[in-house]
Amino acid sequence: MSELTLRPLTPVVGAEVSGLDLRCPLDEREADQLQSALLTYGVLFLRGQDITPAQQLAFARQMGEISIPPIQPHHDAYPEMLVLDQVSPVGEGADEWHSDNSFMQEPPLGSILKAVQLPSCGGDTCFASMYAAYEALSEPIRQLVDGLSAIHDITKPMQRAIAAGLLSADLAEVQKKNPPVVHPVVRTHPVTGKKGLYVNGNSTSEIVGLSARENELLLRFLIDHVRDPAFQCRFTWDLGSIAFWDNRAVQHYAVADYRERRVMHRVTLKGDRPY
Ligand code: SIN
Repeated sequence: MSELTLRPLTPVVGAEVSGLDLRCPLDEREADQLQSALLTYGVLFLRGQDITPAQQLAFARQMGEISIPPIQPHHDAYPEMLVLDQVSPVGEGADEWHSDNSFMQEPPLGSILKAVQLPSCGGDTCFASMYAAYEALSEPIRQLVDGLSAIHDITKPMQRAIAAGLLSADLAEVQKKNPPVVHPVVRTHPVTGKKGLYVNGNSTSEIVGLSARENELLLRFLIDHVRDPAFQCRFTWDLGSIAFWDNRAVQHYAVADYRERRVMHRVTLKGDRPY
């Protein structure tokens, strides 16, 4: 039996995992080690995993319950799997810091993303620790944001895409199916008990109870704060690389610097309501 090893990428977020072969089911010890590493590092990277969609789904089922998020295109044969197939990614949504589907009442616990086709260079993904972002705030600002909540709206990234001529959609109809939700600005992780910042540039539209000017300053500051490289790691993909992140503790950003086809398969794990 090979031994699982972890190599941290930065002091605050991300670790590369070696010693696992996802073509076979993990044994209980390996699954436990991986779950616990996810809580510690926020995002795990596994290279050289030559796995089929069915094997990726089987791995996901060992890590949690699969959920099927709204809207994105699904794999023809495996509807639980999202297919991110892009050539011109600028403005398509993932090139803004975000936590996946924070516009849901119960946003995903995490996602498992596999590189299927890559541009010759570029197309990295960055991850940022929301624990580190929260802890870097001064005590008075932490006290201020601790008690606040914010609205997350599925149409916020769509409005940007429409303005850029990349999308046409009936936003009122979309909002009717996915009404905006309210989450705390600082969420407590249900397992680690640690506090992390929970607003993102993609979907957070407004902090509740603030005036428009206060929102303009405070929300913009928090969204900007998340972008500090001190909270981040950056992953350069190879074919067969997998990233598995804890959506409750990290945000991510897909660097939109390529103009060749990039195809990724993503499976999302069911989460719970942030508190
Ligand atoms: C995502 O936002 O889930 C996609 C990240 C990526 O394509 O690198």
